[in-house]
Amino acid sequence: MLFSYDNIETPAVFIELDKLEENIAAMQVLADRHGLRLKPHAKTHKSLQIARRQIKSGAVGITVATVDEALVFMHPEFKSLTVSRPIVSSLTLDRLLKAARDNGLEVAVTIDSIEGVKLLLERAASLGYQPQVFLKIDVGLKRCGLNPESKDLIKLAGILNESQAVHFSGIMSHAGHAYGASSKEKIAEIAEFERTAMLEIKENLLAQDIPVETVTVGSTPTILAAESFEGIDEIRPGNYLFLDAFSPRTGVAATSDISLSVLATIVSTNEEFFITDAGSKTLSSDAGGHGLSVVKGFGVAYPVEHFLSEQYAMPVSALSEEHSKILKGKLELRPGNRVRIIPNHSCPVVNLAARLVVVDEEKIDYWPVDAGVGAKLP
Ligand SMILES: Cc1ncc(COP(=O)(O)O)c(C=O)c1O
Repeated sequence: MLFSYDNIETPAVFIELDKLEENIAAMQVLADRHGLRLKPHAKTHKSLQIARRQIKSGAVGITVATVDEALVFMHPEFKSLTVSRPIVSSLTLDRLLKAARDNGLEVAVTIDSIEGVKLLLERAASLGYQPQVFLKIDVGLKRCGLNPESKDLIKLAGILNESQAVHFSGIMSHAGHAYGASSKEKIAEIAEFERTAMLEIKENLLAQDIPVETVTVGSTPTILAAESFEGIDEIRPGNYLFLDAFSPRTGVAATSDISLSVLATIVSTNEEFFITDAGSKTLSSDAGGHGLSVVKGFGVAYPVEHFLSEQYAMPVSALSEEHSKILKGKLELRPGNRVRIIPNHSCPVVNLAARLVVVDEEKIDYWPVDAGVGAKLP
């Protein structure tokens, strides 16, 4: 059987398996070429099936953002987990540490404050589990992380290094502001700033006799654009395996590399718009990675027969919950016709879906979004 769009109910998060597998393989090749450990961020796919493919292709473990996600991937087959958002609540931290202890799994947590350090040392000692710890560094996103110039950096690293309750692993950064850059060259500059800032911090820590086993960095744009990884030990890209509207805009990847689109049906038409069944509850209202509104509208739609053909591209100009308005293009589409939409940001699209519709030439498969909004939490 050759796959047919008519056999798929919409709206559907549509994954092209061959492109997904190529993106997973290409990132592993990049990591291997530079001698980097790859610990991909699973907040993008939230899928056990996809994480298994990443591990099989050579990933050393999985990064997650939340403890809820960590619990879904808390299994020896995923080798080692890093939780990249700082945890400062004992309720949440206890769930993680207990699960790691009971499953005998290596878990790393991330910290950027004295409050976080105190809580971690106390809970780790009390629960009898020794987590790995990364100090988070802010290299320009101005979200989490210590300023590279901060005096607290050496102080916190010293406390972590001296404690028997945890194992100080090193320093972590995420240059997410690269999503707002206008070109591959600008992204490469951000990556180089991040690399040199992280290596300087490592030097400063070593000068205080604080060992730094791992310097871990990661965002899809910076990894795809970076010119040097010298001194870096680990990368944590997430978005790379699906990609979305940001990648062709900056030239870090081609439109044809994007493996995720939203399959939607035209349910109505008027003079100006085609109306589809994929609204904000499917596409999300996200303007792009980190909410950086560098793209206009809510995605780009193509008639399925002309997917990725620029002359048929139509902007998704407005969303309501269950509908999107697509500005009419070259073809007159009718109710029942299908379009494929490249979203602004793949990660929230997946998070909102119960399942991924995974397609290759031969067949259609359905993979659950195991750690998505509908996930049953352990
Ligand atoms: C701490 C951290 N590491 C890695 C990533 C992965 O970045 P990307 O999805 O751009 O690959 C993210 C994404 O938000 C992140 O917050």
